[in-house]
Amino acid sequence: MKGIFPIEKFRNLQTPFYYYDTDLLRNTLNVINREAERYENFQVHYAVKANANAKILAVIRDSGMGADCVSGGEIRAALQAGFPAGKIVYAGVGKADWEIELGLDNDILCFNVESVPELEVINALAAAKGKVARVAFRINPNVGAHTHAHITTGLAENKFGISMDDMDRVIDLALGMSNVRFIGLHFHIGSQILDMGDFAALCNRINELQARLAARRILVEHINVGGGLGIDYQHPNRQPVPDFAAYFACYHKHLRRYGQQTIHFELGRSIVGQCGSLITQVLYVKQGTHKQFAIVDAGMTDLIRPALYQAYHKIENLTSERPVETYDVVGPICESSDVFGKAVDLNGVTRHDLLALRSAGAYGEIMASGYNCRALPQGYTSDELRD
Ligand code: LLP
Repeated sequence: MKGIFPIEKFRNLQTPFYYYDTDLLRNTLNVINREAERYENFQVHYAVKANANAKILAVIRDSGMGADCVSGGEIRAALQAGFPAGKIVYAGVGKADWEIELGLDNDILCFNVESVPELEVINALAAAKGKVARVAFRINPNVGAHTHAHITTGLAENKFGISMDDMDRVIDLALGMSNVRFIGLHFHIGSQILDMGDFAALCNRINELQARLAARRILVEHINVGGGLGIDYQHPNRQPVPDFAAYFACYHKHLRRYGQQTIHFELGRSIVGQCGSLITQVLYVKQGTHKQFAIVDAGMTDLIRPALYQAYHKIENLTSERPVETYDVVGPICESSDVFGKAVDLNGVTRHDLLALRSAGAYGEIMASGYNCRALPQGYTSDELRD
């Protein structure tokens, strides 16, 4: 065992693989529940897109959370894991008919609708089934978040949601339809957000929109503020459980609530990010001209975030106490972007050492691909690997 990792157990497993510390996950879920329960009608949905490993979903389901899905496949995964349909919300700019029907057949809590044509299709499909679909409109609040351009979603230029200017017209349209029931508004400004000021800005925008609706005597029962709370990738051990107290307090302080409105949150990364690591084995140490490479058996097919977003994941050598040296840590994929880190300081690396890429529980395993005909990585939990 080095720190939190059962290394002897790792030696029996085929690398690369994901390792999930389910004690940390449970601890994180307990903190979320405790902090959300301080406020009336705060309901948290786990954003399944962050990690849909069935073992992880089972732990999260046990906490009593709902699920936030963005595809029919995710709705199926959530239902299979035992999330109640009445706690499933479903967003996405391109919902196919079968996906909408799956949601209708299971009576999910809410469709987060992103366009007028989508609203019309939901109304028609619900009519054909003699059902009434609960819908919220995803409003693009035009609030920027200080995060990577690929993961900001709340700006007017993004493809997501309905613009604020169109909101009243779309609501009127829904109110005139007989097979949808307009219940609320949905927002999401981006991901990996660490500045509470960004969430406060979203609250202010929601307050403006709600005041506009109140002037028209429209009161919604459901406000969904999306997800986006970030994690500390630089120091995964320093604060393994994100500051949920500050997060919920921010919404409590800045969001004006009307009546018994429920406030829904869709958290992904902050729930599962820190509990997961990608464990990989060193294949070769290669001397370059001015540097040395640690060539590992994991690649961008197992964890694409560094290649796709220039994301940082802390790398540790789990099996060496040798003096620190500097390496470029690279994978075996035939792409020059298949690099996990440049000039990384690691305890001296030799063949067969095990490295951990930390903070990989969110958007890691789920974004793996079979490029280069590689097998998908397995995921193991600390529960399974316990003595
Ligand atoms: N709700 C909606 C509507 C979303 O689009 C997302 C994430 C979430 C909730 C959950 O956000 P979170 O709490 O995890 O920040 N693959 C990227 C992240 C993409 C996020 C997409 N939307 C990454 O690896 O950083």
